[in-house]
Amino acid sequence: MQDRQSIINKINSLKKERNAVILAHCYARDEVQDIADFVGDSLGLSQEAVDQDAEVIVFCGVSFMAESAYILSPEKTVLMPDADADCPMAAMVDVASLRKLKAEHQGAMVVCYVNTRADIKAECDICCTSANAVEVVNSLDSGKVIFVPDKNLAAYVAKHTDKTIIPWNGYCPTHNQILAEDVDLAVNEHPGAEIMAHPECRSEVLEKADHVFSTTGMIGHVKSSDNNEFIISTEQGILHQLETENPNKKFYPVSKFTFCPDMKMIDLSSVLRCLENMETVVTVPKDIQVRAKRALDRMLEVKR
Ligand code: 13P
Ligand code: SF4
Repeated sequence: MQDRQSIINKINSLKKERNAVILAHCYARDEVQDIADFVGDSLGLSQEAVDQDAEVIVFCGVSFMAESAYILSPEKTVLMPDADADCPMAAMVDVASLRKLKAEHQGAMVVCYVNTRADIKAECDICCTSANAVEVVNSLDSGKVIFVPDKNLAAYVAKHTDKTIIPWNGYCPTHNQILAEDVDLAVNEHPGAEIMAHPECRSEVLEKADHVFSTTGMIGHVKSSDNNEFIISTEQGILHQLETENPNKKFYPVSKFTFCPDMKMIDLSSVLRCLENMETVVTVPKDIQVRAKRALDRMLEVKR
């Protein structure tokens, strides 16, 4: 067993040797966030994948994020320390069923949440993340929009647009299991706390929140808020950054079950193995990459 500091030292020297950069989502394990060059939400990570000069991107998140990095920058080598880390919501929509829905709603434009596989992105007009979903939908010419796969994010968008939203029936198991009663219990325990919720939560949870934000949106809001206590209705990994950046403020997870197992699969040992062996390499077939890139590029042109 190597001690933690020697693993970190090896990761840092291999990073230089390979001209690699480590990107991590804010739901990643604390120790992985600490060694990352950039920690952010899905939108920030996509932008970072484009902006980075490094030849190698080590992606510490789930597979749709690494795929997006490759789609946007196919000239770079994109590696995942654990290729089994996948988003269950991304697996809830398949190409044949989406094509069927498109045929039933001729003239509707198709927006897909980035939490989808590359072949789904290739079928869509534009991607969105939780940080820009409303802006993306409102930027479209069509009054009718198919929105896949998250039904909760679709319902949130529907409340903030005049367009007709045709939702899919997918959901994030981590956010969807948060109930309105969980918020009530947390408020009883911490009556003065501001409530922040991620739009992957159910509508009844969002209705109880003071603010609805993507993960990076939450981090930005806390910095500017005069409040000192916050109830956090999203995956608990975000508490690491919130607590590190705001040592005098207090953060309470809305429940103890807000935990995404896939986001925790990557640890320091797998990051080291990944850089040592240069695996697992993430790629996407060329025809899908080209079509999926159009949908991601179009999203990146929409202001956050
Ligand atoms: P954001 O990164 O857009 O906040 O989404 C959270 C998420 O569930 C990613 O899997
Ligand atoms: Fe997917 Fe939810 Fe995990 Fe994000 S938190 S990777 S949406 S299951």
